[in-house]
Amino acid sequence: MTVLSHPEFDGHELVEFVTDRRSGLVAIIAIHSTVLGPAGGGIRFFPYASEMDAVTDVLRLSKAMTNKMAMGEVPLGGGKSVILGDPRTDKTEALLEAYGDAVEALGGRYICGEDMGMTPDDMEVVARRTDHARGTASGSGDTSPLTAHTVFLSIRAAVRHRLGTGLDGIRVAVQGAGAVGSKLVAKLADAGAAVLVADVDPGAASRTGAEVVGIDEVLAADVDVLAPCAMGGVLSASTIPTIRASIVCGAANNQLATPADAERLRAADVLYVPDYVANIGGVYSAVIDRKGADVARVKADAVEGRVIELLERAEAEGTSPAAAADRRVAEILAAARG
Ligand code: NAI
Repeated sequence: MTVLSHPEFDGHELVEFVTDRRSGLVAIIAIHSTVLGPAGGGIRFFPYASEMDAVTDVLRLSKAMTNKMAMGEVPLGGGKSVILGDPRTDKTEALLEAYGDAVEALGGRYICGEDMGMTPDDMEVVARRTDHARGTASGSGDTSPLTAHTVFLSIRAAVRHRLGTGLDGIRVAVQGAGAVGSKLVAKLADAGAAVLVADVDPGAASRTGAEVVGIDEVLAADVDVLAPCAMGGVLSASTIPTIRASIVCGAANNQLATPADAERLRAADVLYVPDYVANIGGVYSAVIDRKGADVARVKADAVEGRVIELLERAEAEGTSPAAAADRRVAEILAAARG
């Protein structure tokens, strides 16, 4: 398979392979679309099993950013980058600076931010070499509070739509008690929901104060809502038949293993709120930064209405919310192209 014939290529505007001999940097920067503005998207630092896995991930993630920006009404396009390696052992200042040079060389066509394996302090190092870095410790800082907020609002909208109730007494299983998951657990508990949580790190799960379940049990937990907040690809042909929740809505990017899984969920009568609609808070937080925290919060609050609108559209059209959202994105891009 080549990159151009890759099933996830989808007309990417640019895919750049970056290496720096001195620091050992190996990275891929993907720009899916700049139709709505410069491409925005985080940096994932991850020890991929193969180069092709890294290519697949960056292509899927950058396309998802195009969708996320369009649905979130953010005047940016979609992009993403991956750094190949283990962030615990391979991350050096020289490597992050070399990555920053590569972003700067794109002249603002791509604006990078934080993703898995990167921290606001790392973004500070990247930002030494480029003006096109966000999510720095001194800028927006931690994006997870606003991400947890928009996921919470999306769950509330989906529960209202599907079950006709508020969150009081609703049972929710959260997969992943990290930065976003732990904050989501707290918000759900405050709203009166009964929350189960699972994490590969049992300490992280128990620190939330919610009831802890095993990582192999959480997807099939007997709950109303399943909230994937760990990694992508969790909704697949093998997991969907085991899901007992009637709603799936969480923070993880690219939860569907394949696009066909959206229809599989609909056929199983599971209401899936597209990840890129629910987790938009992180983008608001990153692009607006701390000085505009109030603006970011107002934009985030609009997510609840947007999810309700989307679910109603999907119902009226007899399609999955994911298909309805993809169609909405296509309309927005077509209108912008003129
Ligand atoms: P994180 O790295 O802080 O937390 C992830 C948690 O999931 C960790 O505690 C980890 O131990 C756990 N985990 C890993 N594999 C697991 C498994 N198999 N079962 C159960 N738990 C497992 O990451 P963060 O920031 O909370 O993000 C969570 C997800 O949300 C990621 O997919 C991320 O890409 C996505 N996201 C995060 C945003 C943000 O603002 N932080 C914005 C948009 C999306």
